[in-house]
Amino acid sequence: MSNYEFIETRAEGGIGFIELNRPKVLNALNRGMISEILAAMEDYDRSEEVQVIMLSGKGRCFAAGADIDEMANADSISIEMLNQFTDWDRLAWIKKPIIGAIHGFALGGAFELALCCDLLIAAEDAEFGFPEVNLGIMPGAGGTVRLTKLAGKTKAMEWLFTGKRIKAAEALHYGIINKAVSKELLLEEAVRFAKKIAAQPPLSIRFIKESVLKAIDSSIYEGMQYERKNFSMLFSSQDQKEGMRAFIEKRKPDFSGR
Ligand code: CAA
Repeated sequence: MSNYEFIETRAEGGIGFIELNRPKVLNALNRGMISEILAAMEDYDRSEEVQVIMLSGKGRCFAAGADIDEMANADSISIEMLNQFTDWDRLAWIKKPIIGAIHGFALGGAFELALCCDLLIAAEDAEFGFPEVNLGIMPGAGGTVRLTKLAGKTKAMEWLFTGKRIKAAEALHYGIINKAVSKELLLEEAVRFAKKIAAQPPLSIRFIKESVLKAIDSSIYEGMQYERKNFSMLFSSQDQKEGMRAFIEKRKPDFSGR
């Protein structure tokens, strides 16, 4: 059990679970919740027991977006001075893989949070969308950037201009999610994915994640330079020695994360 107010956490079998826990307001993301999510992720990132972080929502849905009650009376200056997106920036520094298990709504800020995950497993009832336009605002936590990079300009413009909700099947088609499963199987399937990754050599996973994120943000040449450095670095690890020795000796490797 955690001491958090807006989320629940538990670590089990190499997986650090984070559940959004304001079901009465469809897990609306208030600033306190975002700050707790980051604190929990950073704890898991430092923990030797956790290899993969899993994010999901309690109740009817993952989350219906940023807490509108908290923003309704804000003005530009107060929004600017709050600097609330610095917590979101910390997400980019989480080194362990983050899996989002999404059901029901993932709207606005919650879609942005999902887009910050490394892998997304969604229930067939999941609905992703950016309804900000209907509120007279626009996404502010990376939505226009991450959606455009993933789905391309054409679909990003359509979905952002209209606030249309995309069903899991369409999200799968556009490469936004990894897999759609029935609602009943969502957590089971997400845990299955997580366990598979948790069993891999952690340093390889860490450097692969770093390299892929770097690739999104850089030229092919710059990305490849970065990849090469990470590739070289892994040859200092015990897991590289163990992995290759095990291959040659025709046995299963026993990775230590060192
Ligand atoms: N903020 C605050 N409260 C919210 C909320 C939100 N984003 N979404 C839902 N709630 C609350 C409702 O006010 C309601 O509370 P009460 O029972 O006290 O009235 C409760 O959650 C249940 O919601 P509904 O009765 O509306 O449920 P529904 O099934 O009829 O509709 C919904 C579901 C379509 C998701 C609808 O709740 C909705 O449109 N929510 C807002 C979605 C939205 O606009 N999200 C974007 C927010 S802005 C943003 O995220 C900006 C950013 O990028 C940082």
